[in-house]
Amino acid sequence: MPYVTEGPTGEVAQTDMIKHLLGRKGPSGFGSASTAEKVAKNWDGSGKVVIITGSNTGLGKEAARVLAARGAEVVMAVRDTTRGEAAAQDIRSKHPNANVKVMACDLSSLASVKDFAAAYKATGKPCHILIANAGVMACPFMLSAEKHEMQFATNHLGHFLLTQELLPLLSSTAKQASSNSRVVVLSSAAHFNPYKKEAGGPIRLDAIDSPERYDVWGAYGQSKLCNVLFARELHKRLTAEGAPVTAVVCHPGVIMTELGRHFEKTMSPVMRTVLPAAFSWAFKSIAQGAATEVYLATSPAIKGGEYYADCNISPSTAASHDDELGRRLWQLSEKMLADAGIN
Ligand SMILES: NC(=O)c1ccc[n+]([C@@H]2O[C@H](COP(=O)([O-])OP(=O)(O)OC[C@H]3O[C@@H](n4cnc5c(N)ncnc54)[C@H](OP(=O)(O)O)[C@@H]3O)[C@@H](O)[C@H]2O)c1
Repeated sequence: MPYVTEGPTGEVAQTDMIKHLLGRKGPSGFGSASTAEKVAKNWDGSGKVVIITGSNTGLGKEAARVLAARGAEVVMAVRDTTRGEAAAQDIRSKHPNANVKVMACDLSSLASVKDFAAAYKATGKPCHILIANAGVMACPFMLSAEKHEMQFATNHLGHFLLTQELLPLLSSTAKQASSNSRVVVLSSAAHFNPYKKEAGGPIRLDAIDSPERYDVWGAYGQSKLCNVLFARELHKRLTAEGAPVTAVVCHPGVIMTELGRHFEKTMSPVMRTVLPAAFSWAFKSIAQGAATEVYLATSPAIKGGEYYADCNISPSTAASHDDELGRRLWQLSEKMLADAGIN
């Protein structure tokens, strides 16, 4: 299994960048230029239910639109239901037959995640695909409802709980459908840049919630490394149990979305202007950015436990292949749930 020990300046990442710029297709038949619509073109979503977190804007909203247009029922799990309803309405205006529903789920509150899962299970509906898409990037030091560092809490811990809560339903749905259900986790190439070793990295297991030496990018990279480790560990556990659920993880590309909403607080005005201009050549459109998560939700050819970029299996860091680190992260996450009174 290929993986790299270098950061994004390493040889493998550079090769990937050239492939990205050329829009060259990989073994899946898709590449960086493929759109979500294109990768889902032959998928029949009728009878399928997909839950997508953070789907009121950005990549999640585009994934919701495309999967609903292919006939799936899409549950938009969002923290702001007013924004969620506006997004759902926008999708319905483009696709009058779209079956999209909005439900409240704030990933930075374990109680809210638990409530969402309970409310969803109470509907009696199945769940074929869970897309853990919601994310927050490079925010100033903040704490979640249960007093965990915000990027870790939102990007990893909330999704960890949501997945645990929905696993029995994903399994029973798969048995009825006679095909595996899926958990698709959104990570990032930022997982190449978690905390440095001297700052307690790559994951500050003993100091996740400490404001000391908090670094906005270290914390984002850490949370995105958690996403890869979680998906791999989950897939390993599901395989060992013989559960009919496949877990995969992806980097969607670099896309101008609302993800940079905290830059005003954490980046100088000059950097906010210069950086997007300097890197505009590397950006994907939102339609292209949503392609990899939609590919992982719909393709019959995906491989569980793998990290994908541009709709193809892609190298990820050595830390993301560290089984011991994955186990320790799992244990810490379970402890945090137990400390919050959630078993
Ligand atoms: N864009 C990129 O270049 C890029 C690159 C690599 C990885 N990613 C990953 O792709 C995913 C989607 O990002 P995006 O670019 O589409 O960003 P985005 O436009 O900012 O969308 C993020 C979504 O997450 C939601 N969210 C944030 N905090 C939440 C919370 N506590 N509870 C529930 N929902 C919450 C947001 O809701 P609100 O609107 O209410 O805030 C929004 O719907 C993220 O996981 C991100 O890390 C993006």
